Amino acid sequence: MIKFCVLLAAILVLVSSTPKSGISRADDLVLAEACDASASGISRADDLVLAEACDASACSLPDCRCMSTDIPGGLDISEIPQIVLLTFDDAITALNYAYYEDAFFTRTNPDGCPVQATYFMSHEYTDYSKVHDLHARGHEIALHSITHEPYTAYWDELDVEGYIAEFGGERDIVSHFADIPEDDIQGIRIPLLQLAGIRIPLLQLAGNKSFQALQTIGMKYDCSWPTQSYMDPPLWPYTLDYKSEQDCPIGECPTASFPGIWVQPMVNWRDTSGYVCSMVDACIFVPTETDEILEFIKTNFHRHYDSNKAPFGFYMHAAWFQSNPNNYEAYLQFLDYLESLNDVYIVSIQRALEWVQNPKSLDEISSVWSSCPATTEASCTSTSCALDKDGEARYMVQCRNSCPSVYPWLNNPLGV
Ligand SMILES: *[C@@H]1O[C@H](CO)[C@@H](O)[C@H](O)[C@H]1NC(C)=O
Repeated sequence: MIKFCVLLAAILVLVSSTPKSGISRADDLVLAEACDASASGISRADDLVLAEACDASACSLPDCRCMSTDIPGGLDISEIPQIVLLTFDDAITALNYAYYEDAFFTRTNPDGCPVQATYFMSHEYTDYSKVHDLHARGHEIALHSITHEPYTAYWDELDVEGYIAEFGGERDIVSHFADIPEDDIQGIRIPLLQLAGIRIPLLQLAGNKSFQALQTIGMKYDCSWPTQSYMDPPLWPYTLDYKSEQDCPIGECPTASFPGIWVQPMVNWRDTSGYVCSMVDACIFVPTETDEILEFIKTNFHRHYDSNKAPFGFYMHAAWFQSNPNNYEAYLQFLDYLESLNDVYIVSIQRALEWVQNPKSLDEISSVWSSCPATTEASCTSTSCALDKDGEARYMVQCRNSCPSVYPWLNNPLGV
């Protein structure tokens, strides 16, 4: 596969440029041949099997779940946690990090564990030392592509190999330059469409392709798929072993079977004029005063909390905080409100899926989440690398001792 080919090239360069390494001798090495994608295990379109109607008797937790608004495990609403998912798209920068630090680092869930957010990060302008730090604190790092290409046609035309290069390649970049284990990166979100600077409140799906890529590179879930039809009651996460009945407002939705791949649906919000939006900052009619913004957020939250407690997604870009300080103030007040509810858990998408896969009542929550999210000692000695991206300077702050030779990008994630 492409990732493998690129890595092989990287290893060859590394080995051949460090003759004293003792790792392997030059004459042990085999000349790399042209990459043969057909030998790589990428599933081809004709390998895909059309998903059939979900057979609940054959599809059971922990690894299979039919698309549904039913509470997992047949539990009652009164006995389950309300999971809240806070996510941020785009670059992780020192500026954004200051908000995350201020908003999250001292908050805890009812079980005493720190709250977590999930960052669908894009590559350009990201400070990888901050990525390292967030991960070390137990937050979830997820992927939003390398190029973050704003044109619909690009994502439409991209083939499976292209999706693998965007997301598998980005996983290589993050794992290497932020020095975090590859296996801790499990989720993707395809970039938002942006036209003429206006964010269109829709995301882009590309049929089977991105899901095929996810499966090929061994990742677990997608969080790009909005739903308008399953807002009230809202949709729970489910797997793509069987046919999804989720509405498909944008692009093409997957129709093949992808066993064990999870969809964390982007259940839409409603703005104050009744229009739907999948990202909060794409909602059109939103109040500007703190009290009213808070009410707007709570109204959307209660659509989940008062019906089936499907995970409530608060999906946004940090730019929303910068665009109006009242947005940030309302956000903090909303987090305070959540802290006052003893059945609300603010967790990463990975941790949320752990509960869905093994649903237990609040009394037994410690049998699902037996320990707090793993944290590690932050160990990034950051180096700032001045690199060139198409004639423009990019300062890439990262955790390796030495800088990449060129700016890491599609098909050359390690910048060799
Ligand atoms: C997805 O895969 C299924 C099963 O092979 C196929 O029938 C369908 O046409 C594919 N969808 C697209 C958009 O290619």
